[in-house]
Amino acid sequence: MSYFANKIVWITGASSGIGEALTYELTKLGAKIVISARREEELKRVQQQAGPSNVYVLPLDLEAPATFPAKVQEAIGAFEQVDIMIHNGGISQRSKVIDTLPAVQRKVMEVDYFSYIELTRLLLPHMQQRKTGHIAVISSVMGKIGTPMRSAYSAAKHALHGFFDCLRAEVWKDNINVTIITPGYIRTQVSLNAVTASGEKLNELGKNIGHGYAADKTAQQILNAIQKGKFEKYVGRPFSKEWMAIHLMRLFPTLAIKVFKNAVPE
Ligand SMILES: NC(=O)c1ccc[n+]([C@@H]2O[C@H](COP(=O)([O-])OP(=O)(O)OC[C@H]3O[C@@H](n4cnc5c(N)ncnc54)[C@H](OP(=O)(O)O)[C@@H]3O)[C@@H](O)[C@H]2O)c1
Repeated sequence: MSYFANKIVWITGASSGIGEALTYELTKLGAKIVISARREEELKRVQQQAGPSNVYVLPLDLEAPATFPAKVQEAIGAFEQVDIMIHNGGISQRSKVIDTLPAVQRKVMEVDYFSYIELTRLLLPHMQQRKTGHIAVISSVMGKIGTPMRSAYSAAKHALHGFFDCLRAEVWKDNINVTIITPGYIRTQVSLNAVTASGEKLNELGKNIGHGYAADKTAQQILNAIQKGKFEKYVGRPFSKEWMAIHLMRLFPTLAIKVFKNAVPE
């Protein structure tokens, strides 16, 4: 029997890309899934494709924290518990620091960081009461390095590492695991949905994302890392330039920073 059989998993950002792929992989493994994002019609499409009886649609706007307490209760109520929370919903950014409006910096932090930490805070009592739980967080290679045109995104992703490393140190005694995932380039809608300096949608499929690793294989790698209880795991194309970047930063940070200064933004 698979590790995920009969587990209840809540995934945010499940209306496309990595979250959608995770939903399909998890249904194949026998899990029951609560799927969230803003676009209810897209969530229903994913539900139909995954198998309606095992998937509960819970629309959620990560920029609406006032709704979170009720959403968390609804997520728990859908299948009577949440065993694994996968924080995945997010937006990227393509703009220079000097051009980026403060409201855009805040929006990216709201979606990619503050929503994750508040949903976690609200879900934690449920996991602590049951003395079991797993929180998985989709960060990015940009959570480990810095390159041009990604200041807000990289800041939000770096912040996730600080917060969730601290959380892990607090909750391991309650048998709650925390896994941080750092994907490389994955072929999804992420660059189309990225915000520009003024907050508009970029609507461009960048070359790196267009040639990125497949979302279904990425989902399999993520689930493997969760199953193994990894603390932090790179997922994506093995031995790619993103994989090299993360290792260069870890082993030779001064050299890495010199290399990233010359990174060509797309
Ligand atoms: N693709 C990559 O190369 C890559 C690399 C590293 C990390 N990641 C991370 O992977 C995660 C998933 O991204 P993806 O690549 O699958 O991109 P995607 O196809 O654009 O999916 C993003 C998901 O987030 C949801 N979302 C965006 N804003 C939201 C909001 N305000 N409230 C609720 N949901 C919201 C979207 O749904 P709605 O529009 O329906 O709300 C969608 O389901 C993100 O955290 C991203 O940073 C991606």
